[in-house]
Amino acid sequence: MSSEWGRFFKISIFGESHGAGIGVTIQGAPAGIPIDQEALFQFMSRRAPGKDKTSTPRKESDLPETLSGIFQGHTTGTPISALIRNQDTRSKDYGELAHTARPGHADYTGFLRYGGFQDFRGGGHFSGRLTAPLCYAGGIAKQILASRNIWVGAHVAQIAGIPDLPFDPVGLDQETLLKPGKSGFPVLAPAAEDKMREAIENARISQDSVGGIVECAALGFPGGVGSPMFDGIENRAASILFGIPAVKGVEFGAGFQAAYLKGSQNNDPFTVVNDKILSKTNHAGGILGGISTGMPVLARVAFKPTPSISQPQETVDFMEKKEKELIIKGRHDPCVVVRAVPVVEGAFAVALLDCLLEAEGYNHF
Ligand SMILES: Cc1cc2nc3c(=O)[nH]c(=O)nc-3n(C[C@H](O)[C@H](O)[C@H](O)COP(=O)(O)O)c2cc1C
Repeated sequence: MSSEWGRFFKISIFGESHGAGIGVTIQGAPAGIPIDQEALFQFMSRRAPGKDKTSTPRKESDLPETLSGIFQGHTTGTPISALIRNQDTRSKDYGELAHTARPGHADYTGFLRYGGFQDFRGGGHFSGRLTAPLCYAGGIAKQILASRNIWVGAHVAQIAGIPDLPFDPVGLDQETLLKPGKSGFPVLAPAAEDKMREAIENARISQDSVGGIVECAALGFPGGVGSPMFDGIENRAASILFGIPAVKGVEFGAGFQAAYLKGSQNNDPFTVVNDKILSKTNHAGGILGGISTGMPVLARVAFKPTPSISQPQETVDFMEKKEKELIIKGRHDPCVVVRAVPVVEGAFAVALLDCLLEAEGYNHF
């Protein structure tokens, strides 16, 4: 099912960008976990648009209404569902897109797949707006993981080629992991923020867009979780991370860079510290054979530049099969990466929780 994900912490996302609303149903959350709604709203507000010039001016409070599954501040164990009503829609900006393909967007493939019945307004179900309910599910997953002393965080690793400092794959501590999430622009090095903002602003002024990379990590994730072959932590995390619109690459640990190393450089030597088995380096990103090692789990997610740019572009009217020039109206993010940081964090948390709940089940046998 295209908009459903997970087996033990199962999420199902619905809605369209310019319809009545968007939302999510979550099944599998264990009962009795305290949920801090304020912290959840705070987490979701990191994704909400309209805060400054790095994002679309579309203003949406994105405040979710929890319809079920949370009672007296705790999960009930039965399905959690949340609805976010759409408010600031300007659908007239999108009339042309019923039959005109925005290069880089899913208008044409959506037409091929759904034969013209798809809601094309604002990208419909393909819109980046559908990451709001994903964030809701991710925020719940993060709180369940935190109740088990597992912490998930992320930061902008790179925008338009401008790098932030990386997470330390061995010595990463909780404060450093969670610090970027407390800032409006989630980076580790303050100097990187100014340069990245400038690159985004330059793209906006020249009616263009830029992409980048989000790095995420989990601390406290126990070893021995996950399965080999097709059901590893990498498989599952990549599957949900690729569900985030505009994601074009996912790597774990040293990732593609490992292909340039020798075995002697890439292997992580094992060691014993205070009776705990650790590794001295962490090129594996905390995963070997699909199974967690107990070291920090690390992934990086590459985002393409926002497809909707306002400079004239060559395209086609796919109903009339005629070439035409397109000038996109509507309000768009000159860079989706900053808003995508909590989305990556949330999706990663959902994936890890799904694996963990499975392990908690099979560890009883
Ligand atoms: C948080 C977020 C915001 C986005 N905002 C926009 C936007 O304003 N305009 C746009 O054209 N694409 C935006 N996107 C990306 C498109 O939704 C995405 O590129 C499109 O659906 C095609 O899917 P694909 O790039 O995964 O192939 C956004 C993505 C995310 C994650």
